[in-house]
Amino acid sequence: MLALSTTAGIALAIAGGLIAAAAVAGLALRQRTRETGPDIPEALRPGPSDAALETPLLQKLQGWSVVMLAFFVVWIPVTWIFEPSTNLNQEHELKELAVDRGARSVLPFSEENQLGVGCVRCHGPELTGGIIPLGNGFTTAPNLTNVCGGPSAGHAAIYSTDDIYQVISEGRPPSMPSWSIRFEGALDDQQINDIVLYLVELSSEDESVPFEQNVCLNEDASEAALENPGSNPRDP
Ligand code: HEC
Repeated sequence: MLALSTTAGIALAIAGGLIAAAAVAGLALRQRTRETGPDIPEALRPGPSDAALETPLLQKLQGWSVVMLAFFVVWIPVTWIFEPSTNLNQEHELKELAVDRGARSVLPFSEENQLGVGCVRCHGPELTGGIIPLGNGFTTAPNLTNVCGGPSAGHAAIYSTDDIYQVISEGRPPSMPSWSIRFEGALDDQQINDIVLYLVELSSEDESVPFEQNVCLNEDASEAALENPGSNPRDP
């Protein structure tokens, strides 16, 4: 189990609070019933007989062990049965959070968006591509919303998710900067991973890149793209 969801955490905290309150209340009530007895000092009160001490206590303990056993007999299989879906839900939740962080980090840095690094400066406000100055002329920054289309969508050097990761990490001179701290950039592995997950999501939602051509999600498409690399439209 990676982490409790917020609702599960709150439910656990409330359950814990209730049990603690019940225990305190139980103790307080017990104290009170004792006080209502005759006013004899504790040490002078007649003690319970051996039989009263042994038999009921033994039965009580055995009773509790049956209750405990019944609890575990139910609890362990139920947990075991639901474990895969719990894990899957958590994985989805973590991925959604990562995509969300990725979406925010492609935007420019601002007080409200402190994750921002500003890929949109070059790749266009919707990441659909842009024109940027280079030397005395201009060059194009490619459309990133269909980057998983690989060569067939005009991304000549993108054959898989790893390639997207690599371009962002190492950059592509002269215009695409390197972003990884391993290559004098400003982003750590997790931040780049978040951005890559966001780009894969952009390419996949609403089938903007059909699954048959999606080199990020479809291994067959990735292999086909490698065999038929196409040429980079930005190559001279
Ligand atoms: C200074 C402008 C600039 C910025 C900022 C920038 N890029 Fe780029 N990017 C480019 C250019 C230009 C290319 C094309 C390089 C080439 O193919 O020669 C490119 C290429 C890419 C590619 C490869 C696409 C393909 O078709 O091969 C990816 C992926 C990419 N950028 C992602 C990003 C991400 C993510 C960010 C933000 C972290 C970012 N870029 C920020 C200019 C920029």
